[in-house]
Amino acid sequence: MNGLAGKVALCTGSGRAGGLGFGILDRLGQEGCKLVVTDLPTALAVEEGSSFSALQGKGYDVIQIACDVSSEVDVVACLDQVVAHFGQIDIVVNNAAIGHIMKPLLELETHDWLNVIGVNLTGAFLFTREAGKRMQAGSCIINVASQAAKTGFRQMAPYVSSKHGLIGLTRTSAIDLAPKQIRVNAVCPNHVTTDMGRQQSEYFSQLRGMTPEEYRKGIAERVPLGRVGRPSDTAAAVAFLASDDAAFITGEAMNVSGGEEMH
Ligand SMILES: NC(=O)c1ccc[n+]([C@@H]2O[C@H](COP(=O)([O-])OP(=O)(O)OC[C@H]3O[C@@H](n4cnc5c(N)ncnc54)[C@H](O)[C@@H]3O)[C@@H](O)[C@H]2O)c1
Repeated sequence: MNGLAGKVALCTGSGRAGGLGFGILDRLGQEGCKLVVTDLPTALAVEEGSSFSALQGKGYDVIQIACDVSSEVDVVACLDQVVAHFGQIDIVVNNAAIGHIMKPLLELETHDWLNVIGVNLTGAFLFTREAGKRMQAGSCIINVASQAAKTGFRQMAPYVSSKHGLIGLTRTSAIDLAPKQIRVNAVCPNHVTTDMGRQQSEYFSQLRGMTPEEYRKGIAERVPLGRVGRPSDTAAAVAFLASDDAAFITGEAMNVSGGEEMH
């Protein structure tokens, strides 16, 4: 990919080595970016499967910062720390999310709704606004949305609504930040068997009276390319959108779903 070497890339919710955030930073590290791991303090404290240690072990220039994306104070402090350390911020990937609250609509508590919207949508808004203030021309923001940003899923009202909202944020901030030559795009993966993906497939397989393995086999059979997604698939799309090869792409919501989602 062109133009990524030497750029400073931050990914929210990237503290655990099994998640999409780790895959994204690993790929951006391979492309020569300097890396910022951020996550909740509890996620960063995990010793086994620490994203930071794994990225350091690969020889990348990487720091980690505890940051709750739903806290304005944390987001401002996090970006100030990045700029103090690296001198700039070029790429922000809004990846942090809550995806484990699955309930029938009529049983949802108001705090379930507010928690999910607060992290998945308000968190991305805070990072977009604060990064937008600090970024130079040629920088970009990439939002990790979902297939759930394009279509409805049962018993996932807060998650689906937050991800649809993230596409709205992507489109409107792409327009508002275009005069600064900052691009904003989204990627929309379907199922990936991370911690979140595993929790979701366990819940939905139970609803259907299947094992999680049978459920995931069913997904693979629906996907025209015949398999479930991997973190590296989403990471490749993010690296492309962050690179100069995508210099004329902004406001886009790119499916990474093996053909399962096409609009
Ligand atoms: N796995 C899938 O099937 C799938 C499919 C489509 C989209 N996605 C999206 O990909 C992204 C990454 O998900 P994942 O599958 O790697 O799951 P994950 O659970 O491994 O990662 C989510 C991360 O967000 C962090 N997080 C939660 N609340 C936070 C907060 N308040 N502040 C900061 N960090 C917080 C968690 O600690 C966790 O590390 C999410 O946006 C998710 O919605 C996942």
